[in-house]
Amino acid sequence: MRNPKGRNGDGGVETPGSALGRGRVPLLIVLAVTFFLGCGGSDEASSSSKPAATAPSAMPAKPGPGAAAVSAEADQIFATRCATCHGPEGRGDGPGSTALTPKPRNFQDPQWQDSVDDDHIATIIQYGGAAVGKAPMMPGNPDLIAKPEVVAALVKHVRSLRGGS
Ligand code: HEC
Repeated sequence: MRNPKGRNGDGGVETPGSALGRGRVPLLIVLAVTFFLGCGGSDEASSSSKPAATAPSAMPAKPGPGAAAVSAEADQIFATRCATCHGPEGRGDGPGSTALTPKPRNFQDPQWQDSVDDDHIATIIQYGGAAVGKAPMMPGNPDLIAKPEVVAALVKHVRSLRGGS
């Protein structure tokens, strides 16, 4: 409604002016609130250019790599990190599994697949077993927290290993 451009002075004088008419004790509060609101308003106007400036640089991260590249990265991560324990086919029989108790999850187990949702799998991939009340031998992958699209592709990969029901 108010013209945000170059009229900050007008707005500043106007708002406290109208607030003066109300009670005395709350006046300070009202003044403070209107002052802060006024600041917020002008901040918004001036900072609206900042999000606009950062948004374009953040956005290309998604369309940039492309779905094929993302799922290729996820497949590679699965082969190099997860398969060590979970096995290349997700049976929980990777070379690193022998020393582990409990054993790494068998992703082929349809009952297990039905018992967890995608969010749960995404969380354990990023933050590790301890974060979801599972064994801490299931490590987190903090580097993937910044790559939700790769995490989602990993979840898909885990889902794709489901065995016959
Ligand atoms: C060092 C061995 C190890 C590696 C590497 C590993 N895991 Fe695990 N993972 C485990 C173990 C052990 C469990 C079982 C935890 C439990 O049942 O308490 C597990 C459990 C899981 C579960 C099941 C959670 C549940 O609620 O039952 C998922 C999903 C999972 N891992 C995904 C992955 C993915 C994806 C990767 C690769 C990014 C990976 N893990 C890498 C050891 C590992």
